[in-house]
Amino acid sequence: MTVIDGKATAATIRGELRERTRAFEEKYGKKVGLAVVLIGADPASQVYVRNKIKACEDVGVRSYANYLPETVSQKEAEELVSDLASNEDVHGILVQLPLPKGLDADRILAKIPFEKDVDGFSAENIGALAMGQRATVACTPLGVMELLQRYGVSVEGKRAVVVGRSNIVGKPMAMLLLNANATVTVCHSRTKDLKEDCLRADILVAAIGKAKFITEDMVKDGAVVVDVGINRDENGKLCGDVDYEAVLNKASYITPVPGGVGPMTIAMLMKNVCDAAELSMEK
Ligand code: GUN
Repeated sequence: MTVIDGKATAATIRGELRERTRAFEEKYGKKVGLAVVLIGADPASQVYVRNKIKACEDVGVRSYANYLPETVSQKEAEELVSDLASNEDVHGILVQLPLPKGLDADRILAKIPFEKDVDGFSAENIGALAMGQRATVACTPLGVMELLQRYGVSVEGKRAVVVGRSNIVGKPMAMLLLNANATVTVCHSRTKDLKEDCLRADILVAAIGKAKFITEDMVKDGAVVVDVGINRDENGKLCGDVDYEAVLNKASYITPVPGGVGPMTIAMLMKNVCDAAELSMEK
């Protein structure tokens, strides 16, 4: 059994990206730039945004932080994003979700041109991914694929089961696995016999958002288990969607929480920003 080290892999990737940002600056005389928009004071979002800005500093991306109060109007929020959209120093725009109640996230996100959509949330990017075309892919599922690839886990011909169907993780995850020639099943809260589906998985991706939801009796011997969840257990300790201790000895590969998929999400955001910056200059 191999524990997949997302923290170390993310550090390696950030090292590779440092080279890319340096080369970009040398070639174009300016830095790769990411604008981050945080509206309101959601504590989890504040932590995520802080970590994203820290990652920018680490890899040599210039960050443009925009903090708006939760009382901001829809129009003001949309205008900010529109301004960032026309700013040539900003190669990527990230609006941290969820937004405070009363704001229409879809209309704000729609102001991000797809070339600067480094989260891969836009209809254009999701559509391109679905069609197997070049697309900016949501950072978490992209991080999962990167981990599988770097650990030599082949996907082709495997039975992959994704538990969860969110636009941010489950759906793009399923499309990436399908594009990599896996046979993909997507399960969700209305799935009739979840355990039966999970037991067939060669690759099981848990993206449900419920602490220790995937128990040992739901995992096939030798399965690759990828845990996308970030939850608190009954003692307030960070845990994933998988009952890690129990599943550990059944899996051939497993990602821990913390230190598995989590660090990869931000590394992939930095990769998407570098891709967007290079692409914008090559045009
Ligand atoms: N909120 C939770 N995950 C994400 C993410 O990947 N991107 C953004 N923008 N907001 C999030």
